[in-house]
Amino acid sequence: MTENAGAIVSLRGVGKTFESGTVALAGLDLAVTEGEFVSLLGPSGCGKSTALRIIAGLSEASAGVVERAAGDIGFVFQDPTLMPWASVADNVLLPFKLGTAEKTGAHTAVTRALARVGLAEFADAFPRELSGGMRMRASIARALVTEPRLLLMDEPFASLDEITRFKLNNDLLGVWQELRRTVIFVTHSVFESVYLSQRILVMTPRPGRIFAEIAIPAAYPRDERFRTSAEYAGFCRQVSEALGKAMAAAP
Ligand SMILES: Nc1ncnc2c1ncn2[C@@H]1O[C@H](COP(=O)(O)OP(=O)(O)OP(=O)(O)O)[C@@H](O)[C@H]1O
Ligand SMILES: [Mg+2]
Repeated sequence: MTENAGAIVSLRGVGKTFESGTVALAGLDLAVTEGEFVSLLGPSGCGKSTALRIIAGLSEASAGVVERAAGDIGFVFQDPTLMPWASVADNVLLPFKLGTAEKTGAHTAVTRALARVGLAEFADAFPRELSGGMRMRASIARALVTEPRLLLMDEPFASLDEITRFKLNNDLLGVWQELRRTVIFVTHSVFESVYLSQRILVMTPRPGRIFAEIAIPAAYPRDERFRTSAEYAGFCRQVSEALGKAMAAAP
């Protein structure tokens, strides 16, 4: 990692063309520093999930350079994708069974991860007994259980009602502040990206690339006072304008 010393993830000139001929990404550059909370913001179909999958190593870039520091990755998919036949605790234990994380202390880690997302009392429940928001919490607990160095989240709260989403936003920020891990958060919500992030990367429509980078230098912890502040409204306006220009940008 010469050009982006200190970066935990670095993409340079990344392109992705699927076999179908669809060009999802072209000329995507981004660098994320250890400990940062960064959002990828862009319209539906602009290549956000594709970029996240490439960062995770779940998909290969067709062009460019991808560098990622070693270490565990947690991935929260847009759908909670829990195993219906397994208890919440067994679902959260899964990364220890599949991955390379040290297995000693796995059960303690499961208990801790469930407590972090407010599901301590539901360890023995089955996914079907949980609400949508609780299922999403369980899937976040599963991504957090190994306390991964890098947490990748793909529109995790998009299908939830606003009250639940706001609550989970606050819980996520609490966990981020406690664990000090790096988060790359995909969303198409200007409001959510501003509330959560230190930095927002605004993408163009497909083929996606970074159109603008906007810092949100508001202090943490952020709470409902921030959400209703003039400062927040100002950042939202700035990001909306950038998104509007990105939408009009030629590929
Ligand atoms: N496996 C695939 N094979 C072929 N085309 C794909 C594949 N995955 C994604 N695409 C195409 O790549 C483009 C980008 O898709 P992607 O899922 O990355 O968008 P997105 O920004 O995550 O959208 P959304 O906000 O709706 O989730 C789309 O045109 C999509 O049809
Ligand atoms: Mg997507």
